[in-house]
Amino acid sequence: MITIREESFSDFDAREALLDTCFGPARFLKTCERLREGRLPAQGLSLVAEAEDGSLVGTVRLWHVSAGPGRPALMLGPLAVDPALQGLGLGGRLMREALRRARELGHSAVLLVGDAPYYERFGFSREATDALWLPGPYERDRFLALELLPGTLQGARGLVSATGEFQERPNLAVLVAAANANTPPAHRAA
Ligand SMILES: CC(C)(COP(=O)(O)OP(=O)(O)OC[C@H]1O[C@@H](n2cnc3c(N)ncnc32)[C@H](O)[C@@H]1OP(=O)(O)O)[C@@H](O)C(=O)NCCC(=O)NCCS
Repeated sequence: MITIREESFSDFDAREALLDTCFGPARFLKTCERLREGRLPAQGLSLVAEAEDGSLVGTVRLWHVSAGPGRPALMLGPLAVDPALQGLGLGGRLMREALRRARELGHSAVLLVGDAPYYERFGFSREATDALWLPGPYERDRFLALELLPGTLQGARGLVSATGEFQERPNLAVLVAAANANTPPAHRAA
């Protein structure tokens, strides 16, 4: 049996390995990555699929964005399923659970860049993204949206921008001071 649950800190390595397998290093060049880098995902909306042996076989996360000025929304992605388990309904389970939780948490719209023939089954379409654009290159036909609250994206216009909380970064000054404290004076960093 495969369980869908919230991601925890210890899932980091397995999740990154799965994303490398599914997308390769080019994943960091995607325009959507510009909306994720340096930010935390939306609270409660990082999900993983875990197999009975404890291995991580699926991942999906959602991120806070603004769909044009002053219009809060979520950006979904990446969604990935272990290639050995694709086509068995797991992607669909991850999507439906992520959307259910997003709705329950009071979010009103979800955007994504992906294959319309896949995402249409969850209610995503191109209509609401006509007057929106992303901070980099993308294929217009793959820029999709789903209103969790009908009408949320009516009149949405402008650049989609990241609004998620910033990830905590290590304080460089503290790290250098700590390193210097353990280093003989002649070898200290300037
Ligand atoms: C896309 C992905 C998450 C789907 O997960 P999955 O568990 O294989 O999907 P499901 O089993 O829920 O659904 C299978 C159905 O989706 C269809 N499907 C899968 N990927 C598709 C795609 N890119 N375009 C259109 N249909 C797709 C299958 O043909 C199948 O159709 P059917 O139900 O008519 O037989 C998975 O294939 C994957 O991880 N791919 C690599 C990473 C990726 O492309 N992620 C999406 C980024 S946009």
